[in-house]
Amino acid sequence: MKNKIVLFLLTCCSAMQAQTLPVYLDATKGIEARVEDALSRMTLAEKIDVIHAQSKFSSAGVKRLGMPDFWTDDGPHGVRPDVLWDEWEQAGQTNDSCVAFPALTCLAATWNPDCAKAYGHALGEEALYRGKGMILGPGVNIYRTPLGGRNFEYMGEDPYLTSRMVVPYVQGLQSCGVASCVKHYCLNNDEEYRHQVNVIVSDRALHEIYLPGFEAAVKEGKAWGIMGAYNLYKDEHNCHNQYTLNKILKHDWRFDGVVVSDWGGTHDLDQAVRNGLDMEFGTWTDGLTMGATNAYDQYYLSKQYQKAITEGKYTTDELDEKVRRVLRLFFRTTMNRQRPYGFLCSESHYEVAQKVAAEGIVLLQNEGNVLPIKPEGKKILVVGENAIKMMTVGGGSSSLKAQHEISPLQGLQMRLKASPQPSPVGEGVLPLKGDGGSIDYARGYVGDTSGNYNGVTTGQNLNDDRSAEELIAEAVEKAKKADYVIIFGGLNKSDYQDCEGHDRKTMDLPYGQDKLVAALAAACKKTIFVNISGNAVSMPWRKQVPAIVQAWYLGSEAGISLADVLLGNTNPSGHLPFTWHESLDQVGAHSFGPAAFPGTWREGGKIIDEEYKEDIFVGYRWTDKQKLKPAFAFGHGLSYTTFRISNFHVTSQTTANGNMTFVVDITNTGKLEGSDVVQLYITDVKSSVSRPVKELKAFKKVRLKPGETKTITLHTDRRALSFWDETIGDWKAEPGDFVAHIGDASNRLACKMKFTLTEE
Ligand code: BGC
Repeated sequence: MKNKIVLFLLTCCSAMQAQTLPVYLDATKGIEARVEDALSRMTLAEKIDVIHAQSKFSSAGVKRLGMPDFWTDDGPHGVRPDVLWDEWEQAGQTNDSCVAFPALTCLAATWNPDCAKAYGHALGEEALYRGKGMILGPGVNIYRTPLGGRNFEYMGEDPYLTSRMVVPYVQGLQSCGVASCVKHYCLNNDEEYRHQVNVIVSDRALHEIYLPGFEAAVKEGKAWGIMGAYNLYKDEHNCHNQYTLNKILKHDWRFDGVVVSDWGGTHDLDQAVRNGLDMEFGTWTDGLTMGATNAYDQYYLSKQYQKAITEGKYTTDELDEKVRRVLRLFFRTTMNRQRPYGFLCSESHYEVAQKVAAEGIVLLQNEGNVLPIKPEGKKILVVGENAIKMMTVGGGSSSLKAQHEISPLQGLQMRLKASPQPSPVGEGVLPLKGDGGSIDYARGYVGDTSGNYNGVTTGQNLNDDRSAEELIAEAVEKAKKADYVIIFGGLNKSDYQDCEGHDRKTMDLPYGQDKLVAALAAACKKTIFVNISGNAVSMPWRKQVPAIVQAWYLGSEAGISLADVLLGNTNPSGHLPFTWHESLDQVGAHSFGPAAFPGTWREGGKIIDEEYKEDIFVGYRWTDKQKLKPAFAFGHGLSYTTFRISNFHVTSQTTANGNMTFVVDITNTGKLEGSDVVQLYITDVKSSVSRPVKELKAFKKVRLKPGETKTITLHTDRRALSFWDETIGDWKAEPGDFVAHIGDASNRLACKMKFTLTEE
């Protein structure tokens, strides 16, 4: 009897459910069925509401149908603090401090896709806890010039490296049910006058250099969002661009997610309706930078669009297409009942931050093995503003309110007092150095002492009224008595440095640092320069300073990660994601006058044309072509151990379909455990078009114990042999001979071999 009742109740329930549960709420139905069902229930006003912002970072859901408001947030290095409803000023909440992950240049420098996956996932969990459906990142614009103000938010100069790193980031983030919004699509490679710059670039360079990162994010990563860039291409703003959005992104790549405008990047109703934009954010009433409060009704995709539809100027076809995409986004994120729980500032997130930082720091130079520091009984002098300055605040929209940030000086102090213990980042094979060393500090230079962004302040008082001469004199006096001098210098996140909105004015180090470094190098033989930046800087004193470390913006755990590398607790394994040019005249973009960078104003003073005259020859493609010797090559990165690459061979010397399998041995020939990055470059020996001397086409990071050898396999496909053929508008691999080079830097290629692509 009891069983019968249960059965009766179950039958009743499922019958009721079948009758009452609308398809859009029924998670057992596929997303497309739910989208169509929800769309059919929405009024015109509700449809209009979901395609434009209602506050600085949110858009409306559909209240009547139980769909919550949709919250986005920057990105890409942590979850930005909440701002006021209609102001950029932070809201002043006490529950929105986050973990600051290392900047994306550092992530790229790990050359480790597993780091990118863990990074995306940890960030996704933080975003979930904070109630965000979308993170405005990652950024994959190509590093075209070391002056680019936002290069620190991107993944370097190489389209292949960028592609391999962006895919796992997107997958990790979206596995949490949080959308990525890959930005800034496309050709946003510098910052100055970003709303006015119209990029002129060949189809080849567009497809071979500037699009692959986005393409991989869409096709392989299955990104749910793309952010249109501020600048123009083919005379149309990229937030509503027929060619890049409708043709390439949505038609050719079959992107099924949403195109989000960059904040204030929408300029025209008709283009916004027809040219691929789905969600409009950040527009002011005049479409650009000024406006009234809470003017969201005045957005292009708001009342004026609704009115135009009612008056018959547009059918609802374009609107429904936009809303379909927004609903798909809802069902993937806020309406996804399977979404995991998020958490904020957990130990596991700090571990990810620390691991990425530890793996991304690049040992650029280490003459006489000055590093790692042997601190026992030694006097260590730390110099420089960047040893103490908090770097998670500033830089523009990526600015964060970090729960904590350990400065380089604090990190050294903490580690030198620490008793030996396993390193929390799993690199604990080396005994922790500690005890015995003493640390002194000298300011050395004063840079930018301000420390606030949109109301978030560092709370640091960095004022120092002494003159540059006094500061250098003090540092030099102390340096004379020191065993080691570690200078933490470089750039910071202030305007005209590594910061959104402007580009750097020169490649030089700011605040008179060159003079300071040269003076300290003369005073102490064991001088180490740690450069904190997202861009290469010129180093006229490079030959006088034995050790140079590239330390990026490392986030919350910066000081610990750095101390571990300097003291040898972590064996450095980062490799450069861009070419470190000696000076600007080695850079392709700077070799053709102002027309190529920063561009020239068109008559009328509204548009700047910037022609990428170096074409596909960006970064090492340019230095190779011109036979230039950069300060440090793309892919360069030293270790405290040594490696040998040998026995390079292929499974077959010829290929008809273009697929190749390369096999190589790598041996740790030194005394410490460490990781190296095996890099494979391909040269097309003879081609009907001009091709780069070589291009990166595969890589693998390998960890090895002393004396250990591993055999690794690298796969490439037809695309790796192809160029973008402008005459057919597609990729083309020409049969003939190719050479594969293998090594652990673009200028340290130990072995090479020839292979042939035969006719199909
Ligand atoms: C930036 C975007 C950012 C947006 C929202 C814009 O100024 O270019 O990268 O996501 O603001 O903060």
